[in-house]
Amino acid sequence: MAILFKDGCFKLDTKNTTYSFKVAKFGYILHGYYGKTVSDIDLGYTYPDLPRSYVASVPEDTSMLFRINDAPQEYSAYGIADFRTTALRIKHFDGSRAADLRYFSHEIIDGVVAVKELPHATQNGFSDIETLKVVLKDSATDVFVNMYYTVFEQTDVIARFVEIENKGDNSVFVEKAASLQLDFNDSDYDFITLTGAWAKERHVGRRPLVMGTQGYSVHTGTTSHQYSTFFALCDKNADENMGGAYGFHLVYSGNHKTEIEVDQFGSARVLAGINDEGFSWEVKSGDKFVTPEAFMTYSNNGLGQMSRNLHEFIIRHIFREKWHNVRRPLLINNWEATYFDFNYEKLVSLAETAGKLGIELLVMDDGWFGKREDDKTSLGDWIANTEKLPGGLERLAKGVNEKGVKFGIWMEPEMISEDSDLYRAHPDWAISIPGRAKSIGRNQYVLDITRDEVKQYVIDAISNVIGGANIEYLKWDMNRYLTEAYSLSLGKDNQGEFYHRYVLAVYDILDVIINKFPNLLIEHCSGGGGRFDTGMLYYSPQIWTSDDTDAHERIEVQRGTSMGFPVTCMGSHVSAVPNHQTGRVTPLNTRGVVAYSGTFGYELDITALTDEEREEISKQCEFYKENYWLINCGDYYRLNYVPGEFSAWCFASKDKKEILIFGVQLQAGANDANRFIKIPAAEKSMRYVDDSTNQTYFGDTLNNIGLCMPYQFGERTSFICHLRAIEE
Ligand code: DGJ
Repeated sequence: MAILFKDGCFKLDTKNTTYSFKVAKFGYILHGYYGKTVSDIDLGYTYPDLPRSYVASVPEDTSMLFRINDAPQEYSAYGIADFRTTALRIKHFDGSRAADLRYFSHEIIDGVVAVKELPHATQNGFSDIETLKVVLKDSATDVFVNMYYTVFEQTDVIARFVEIENKGDNSVFVEKAASLQLDFNDSDYDFITLTGAWAKERHVGRRPLVMGTQGYSVHTGTTSHQYSTFFALCDKNADENMGGAYGFHLVYSGNHKTEIEVDQFGSARVLAGINDEGFSWEVKSGDKFVTPEAFMTYSNNGLGQMSRNLHEFIIRHIFREKWHNVRRPLLINNWEATYFDFNYEKLVSLAETAGKLGIELLVMDDGWFGKREDDKTSLGDWIANTEKLPGGLERLAKGVNEKGVKFGIWMEPEMISEDSDLYRAHPDWAISIPGRAKSIGRNQYVLDITRDEVKQYVIDAISNVIGGANIEYLKWDMNRYLTEAYSLSLGKDNQGEFYHRYVLAVYDILDVIINKFPNLLIEHCSGGGGRFDTGMLYYSPQIWTSDDTDAHERIEVQRGTSMGFPVTCMGSHVSAVPNHQTGRVTPLNTRGVVAYSGTFGYELDITALTDEEREEISKQCEFYKENYWLINCGDYYRLNYVPGEFSAWCFASKDKKEILIFGVQLQAGANDANRFIKIPAAEKSMRYVDDSTNQTYFGDTLNNIGLCMPYQFGERTSFICHLRAIEE
């Protein structure tokens, strides 16, 4: 049993972890512990009553010894005697902002509880799952807080979300509601973030926690290129293979906030949820507000195991079951091959070459609709440009299919160009504040899909495109952030709901589309990796990782992304040299080695290849298909890494009988020392043989000494080593 309740204490156990809390004095719910499995159920001794000056006590406590200001709480509220950053802030009808949350009831539920209207972890046929619902009550107002904890035993993950239920007579306004709070007794941790910019997404940052609040808040309306919905805390000495590490994910694709406050007593409070800046949600009498889900894992074996827990969990419980055992197609996208300059003949010739090389899908990118010859026009006019594509999408899809290749298409459904028939007909559909000029991004505006008629237009537009031809793949792009957030459909007291309603509308559209076209594979994209989150992965298991296709720079982006996300969701393509973003020239085999670690594809003009390149590309396609399951479902290990100099990583089959190692030497040096690559993925008692050299090793040799990297001459050279267990 994953969830235990005894004498007011809750103990949530996964295979390797314990999460514990308790109904403590006066009905406050205090957090006891999260970490490696422990046996005790009552951990109340971890928060002893202590005399402290200059902090307020709770109303009933005349002893002045129990203060929620320094007690670790499960879910804290603004307005009472906790002076730290709190999880919940509610404005009541009288203008007051306070909630005093005490235990009311609890229940243990078999399986997963779905989060209404939001993406969430799903059971997907696994049976090791239980949910605990704990209800807290603010007696003065009859506002209830329902905290849900779903325990996924096998993957060492606990998912959480919260409902704010208004059983009072008047509306309340939720101004802040974190999805997850985790209070620690100490703060002796490093904070790991994935930060960046357009074409530089999700680079790993690591810094010690310090007193005060640290974190980030996003108000781009999307996840953003700058900050991720994933973050981690780890022991100061933790590395890939040892030490404690906590990984957190918010399952959300809009404004988000991560706060970690280290208080005066050196305790750390972690909060993650919707960004409260500008947020306010009216909960009418009898209604509920539901937060997005968050999930967390703990690993006692370093950051590598933390990532592997999250990878496994995302693949099992965030991806739809439909995609679990499906090999997704190896694709070519024409964006960097042609940009806007293409026509029917060009695309069909790309498809013809693709088919011969072993590529299985052609994705037609931006520029196929309206009058779009550059990024200034036509978003919203989702009708094929028949000058470029005579016979429209149907003929093109047929032409591509005749070459033995599937057909996919690009859309940016949430957008509208000023120069479009849609804008001329409905200028008010673009998000704006009446009487105020609209900011413009990439020459375009964003549609107010919080309005039903606009949302319906988008659903119809996508449905007509996808339903109008044999289209098996949709790249759903989103190339600007939201500004001047306001909707004509919301009253003046409800404009604070806008950003969240926008995200709910995106989810709603995705839901309708995938139900209508259940076999459609969607690649999410937002100017590269600006909406790279587990919310999006719930709808489809693939996201374009970054607009930077330079193999050298991609190593850091993909390595960073792998901290929280499985390789199998990262769109990664071999592109042309000199690279279009950096001008760098990287050998084709190294471009392949980097792109293999993701949803592999190409993004260059394959009709203009030399014979040698054609041969190499068809071998790459063969290699990827042969190793598809190992790469996409194997366990991923980050190995040696010296930024700008060298990087290695590997995939191991679940039974450890097969290990595929990739390495890239970014910088070359004369007369360098030998480089050894330890392989923690190897099973110590197995014997392995290296496919290409026939050298054999015991697993413990690979664990402790490692492979000696083959000599590489030149920069951006790479190697692949395939180890297989010898059956003895
Ligand atoms: C941004 C995407 O990230 C690119 O891959 C490409 O689809 C362009 N948009 C097209 O406008």
